[in-house]
Amino acid sequence: MRLVTLPGVFRPISDSRLLAGALGEQTLPAGATALDVCTGSGFLAVCAALAGAREATAVDVSRRALLCARLNAALNGVRVRVRRGSLFEPVAGERFDLVVANPPYVPADSDELPRRGLARAWDAGRDGRLVLDRLLDAAPAHLRPGGILLVVHSTVIGGDETLRRMAAGGLHADVVARADGPLGPLLSARAPVLEARGLLAPGQRHEQVLVFRGRAPHAAVRARPNAAALAGGGRS
Ligand SMILES: C[S@@+](CC[C@H](N)C(=O)[O-])C[C@H]1O[C@@H](n2cnc3c(N)ncnc32)[C@H](O)[C@@H]1O
Repeated sequence: MRLVTLPGVFRPISDSRLLAGALGEQTLPAGATALDVCTGSGFLAVCAALAGAREATAVDVSRRALLCARLNAALNGVRVRVRRGSLFEPVAGERFDLVVANPPYVPADSDELPRRGLARAWDAGRDGRLVLDRLLDAAPAHLRPGGILLVVHSTVIGGDETLRRMAAGGLHADVVARADGPLGPLLSARAPVLEARGLLAPGQRHEQVLVFRGRAPHAAVRARPNAAALAGGGRS
């Protein structure tokens, strides 16, 4: 894949590639539609299009990111529909076969999200889950029956909560990819604060990055009337 990253746009890192690998392993239905929320350079939207999605949509709050996503789609000869706005706002009422997201998840000093600048790509409130939890709670309403949600983040901000939220939204949740390694530069720089908040154990300087998958149930099968009811023996 050919990829350019404009100044001020998040350059895909190992997390993005881990998620792209997991995306490539999913079985998409013919004519699948895909949504990349928090698209940045458009990397994952382009991956989805190259993996066979008939229509890929990229959403970001950053104008510059969407310009970059358009550029990368053109460089790779695929069509990506770009929409500016927060999370699912620009695709209200739409459902997709695949939703992928590498959202901001680095714990920050305050619960106020940055309004501009590259920090929007990583600062995510004091517990690092401010954007992620909103995304997890809203995603099920944007999945088609049998649709798949793939989200990547570090276990420094807690993996069980992600699985719990997926399940609470009616999705079948599991982990489909993982990578162990030293803390990335941002988490490293904030390690003393994260230790003080109990997000890192004392001296811990490694993390696990996981790709979580949530699968929507296939279309509900209509309950068949039972034999007793058919025979007129059911309770009225
Ligand atoms: C960690 S970067 C990921 C970029 C890309 N998906 C990748 O993996 O390389 C997160 C992106 O989310 C965008 N973002 C932050 N908050 C957002 C929100 N509420 N809605 C949509 N995009 C958001 C940022 O502008 C940034 O481009």
